[in-house]
Amino acid sequence: MTSYPDEFFRKAQDAVWSMFTDPTSAIPKADALAEEYADRFAGHQVRGTVLFAFGQAEEGLKAFAAGSQRAQADEAAFVFTDRQLKGQETVDQSLQEVGPDIARIDMLYDIIPGGPFKLPQSMTIVRLDDGGLALINLIELNEAVRSALAGLGPVRLLITQTFFHYRYIGGYLEAYPEAKLFGPLAHKTKPEVEGFRYAGYLSDDDPVAPDALEQITFEGHAFNETAFHHPKSGSLVITDLGLNGKDPDSVFYDFYCWLWGGHGRFACPHYHRLMVTDRQAARRSLDKIIAKGFTRLLPNHGHAVAGEGGQIFAEAWAEVFAKM
Ligand SMILES: [Fe+2]
Repeated sequence: MTSYPDEFFRKAQDAVWSMFTDPTSAIPKADALAEEYADRFAGHQVRGTVLFAFGQAEEGLKAFAAGSQRAQADEAAFVFTDRQLKGQETVDQSLQEVGPDIARIDMLYDIIPGGPFKLPQSMTIVRLDDGGLALINLIELNEAVRSALAGLGPVRLLITQTFFHYRYIGGYLEAYPEAKLFGPLAHKTKPEVEGFRYAGYLSDDDPVAPDALEQITFEGHAFNETAFHHPKSGSLVITDLGLNGKDPDSVFYDFYCWLWGGHGRFACPHYHRLMVTDRQAARRSLDKIIAKGFTRLLPNHGHAVAGEGGQIFAEAWAEVFAKM
């Protein structure tokens, strides 16, 4: 991979992050980056991402195309084909058994419909002792997901384990009226989920499925995420506490992981050091999670990691703490 200086990543991440924190500055920052790195591909990809996010679809695609033209041979992995620019990438949505009583289904989330911004997401399905199902991190409930679930058992629990993931809750509440919905405590005051019938909010003191799942809230971190440990399969289920950039399901995701320091591997995107609000509390939570001794890592973004999952998770977080 052609090397880019740290300065490039700092500016690129700043432009992308500004989309959420200071939208007025995001486009000027991305424009400046593309100008500064006019002969390289990635500055244009960042500009395309930002423009597209702000509704300037045509300009955004032009920037992507310009970036692709400037890519050097060893950057070929990130070059967007016409098909990808038109948002035509797909993913296999069949059920994947990953261990005893635990399975996954993948989807590609269209950040901006019709564009190249496809982000992989996975829902984890856990069979409970009574034969019912707990669904962790809900993905779009389309026909493929509905029929995969139909043969598995009654849906008992709907769990959204982190602050930013809530998009598909409504469809599940409608389809599975008997199921109980649990989310992070921070959802209590989140306008986007107002009116949904939460049965409760996640608390380590009152686990939602104590026979099958152990809960560890990641304290001292802005996402208010609860990690789930499934002892039977030695799995840790997380949503945004790390992502897997290995064998990416979309070109944009490959680029996204690279930009945040997780190219081709499991990592905690660099923005996490800005998300830790209480270093000691976060450290304590992390130690509790690692102490579970899991071997399989089931992230929401990217594929499952088997075997060395515990060690890989610990190393990814050690990088975050080292840079704080
Ligand atoms: Fe996410």
